[in-house]
Amino acid sequence: MLTRRAVLGRAVLGGAIGAAGALTLAGGVWPARSSNAATARAVQSLPPRPPHSGGRLHDWTIVAQEGRARLLGEDKPASTVWTFGDTLMPVRRVRIGDSIRATMINRLPDHTSMHWHGLRIPNAMDGVPYVTQLPVQTGERFVYSFTPPDTGTFFFHPHCNEAGQVGRGLAGVLIVEGDEQRASDADHVMVIKDWRLAPDGGWLDFETPEGASRAGTFGTVRAVNAGPTVTADVPAHGDIRLRLLNLDGTRQIEAGVDGADAVVIAIDGNPIDPFPLHTWRFAPAMRLDILVRAPAAGQSFTVYDYFAAEPYPLGRFASVPSSKSARPFEPAPLYASDIPRADLATAERLPFEFSAAPGSPAAAVSDLPDDDPLKDVLLDSLCVGSRTFWAINRQTWPGGDHRNLPPPLARLTAGRSYIFEMVNSTPHPHPIHLHGHTFEVLSSSRQKLPRFLADTVLMQPRERIEITFVAAPGNWMFHCHVLEHLETGMMGWLKVT
Ligand code: C2O
Ligand code: CU
Repeated sequence: MLTRRAVLGRAVLGGAIGAAGALTLAGGVWPARSSNAATARAVQSLPPRPPHSGGRLHDWTIVAQEGRARLLGEDKPASTVWTFGDTLMPVRRVRIGDSIRATMINRLPDHTSMHWHGLRIPNAMDGVPYVTQLPVQTGERFVYSFTPPDTGTFFFHPHCNEAGQVGRGLAGVLIVEGDEQRASDADHVMVIKDWRLAPDGGWLDFETPEGASRAGTFGTVRAVNAGPTVTADVPAHGDIRLRLLNLDGTRQIEAGVDGADAVVIAIDGNPIDPFPLHTWRFAPAMRLDILVRAPAAGQSFTVYDYFAAEPYPLGRFASVPSSKSARPFEPAPLYASDIPRADLATAERLPFEFSAAPGSPAAAVSDLPDDDPLKDVLLDSLCVGSRTFWAINRQTWPGGDHRNLPPPLARLTAGRSYIFEMVNSTPHPHPIHLHGHTFEVLSSSRQKLPRFLADTVLMQPRERIEITFVAAPGNWMFHCHVLEHLETGMMGWLKVT
């Protein structure tokens, strides 16, 4: 089993002997990489997807259950994990046009549900207790049936006690294929999710007042696909599709590739005109699809998270001989998705402020820098018993569960276009997610971004961001995806009729 230190040591070594790239430069100082730079062109020029005929029905039985997994390493004590099905964080693939009928049977000691993150499906299938269905109690079942309308990299997770349930591994990946004009030569999923484990394999508290009232509580064990680092062989000179999903409840990732050329081909599953990947920052719940041109046989490339004291290797891919030969890397864009486009001329503008809850400890300390010792003192004295730290438009979600549904944050009209003017007035980043919709990110006050489609947008401290979309009917959750933030107030819902 590799210790974290050994893994990091390898990262440095790998970088030092690797091809040209960030790691070879500047005597131990990692060069500043600009985040989400505006190297992208517009989204608009993607080819239309050819019509598909008659998909198949996937009839799945998914048992939510407890299992055991060696998350600390093969020679270390095992941990009790929660899974949707027989494997930890399963990957399920369907094709565009296919339908899904997923019968979820709950054999967990807690009630649960399945939310299909990023899928534009009917509201009744959205999996939110008390908003779209009752929670599925132990021994009960619920049938989710829908036809995914878009291609891409999505995931499913419960919408109950999320920090604890997702924290134990309860989630999975749903891939809707059919977006590739030119088939990639390999396709790897990389689920980034840390574990909050004690050395004996037991779980540590998934929520802490210190974490919940600030940037969130971090795991103690870094992991990708439940191991330290993904490793795989890939065909030399092949085009390798990597689907990165940030399933962590807290961590931000700044992904980049060392040792090969890479382009971004989709964000949150939504195709975008390919642009070179310098690095891309993505927060909990966000996905990044990249295409990497594998180097010659015998060489390798590494996907790093550069948002760390030292770059952390998320995946190492070694080229093995293949029938492909060296040729220019000219990635074909994915087929466009059929997302309804908002009409900016007639769109109604609505303001949303993400802030500390009025009167909460988070409000009291929100103007102090994170390393100010006064912050801990204030939190210790104020936090006792308080579980509400955050608000949207000064409104907080009452309690951790959904039983006492607050009034909606806004009432929208189905089919109308909206522009949400969002401001983060806290000193912490918040990835904001809207259920049931794919929105376009129009502008940011802090970064020059390409316009792109997404279902979750990362708001940095004090940042203003505008998103636009066409409202679909239903009761849709709108919340921060830092799990401890949504459970301590930064969650609301929209009523669209
Ligand atoms: Cu992944 Cu309420 O969302
Ligand atoms: Cu947040």
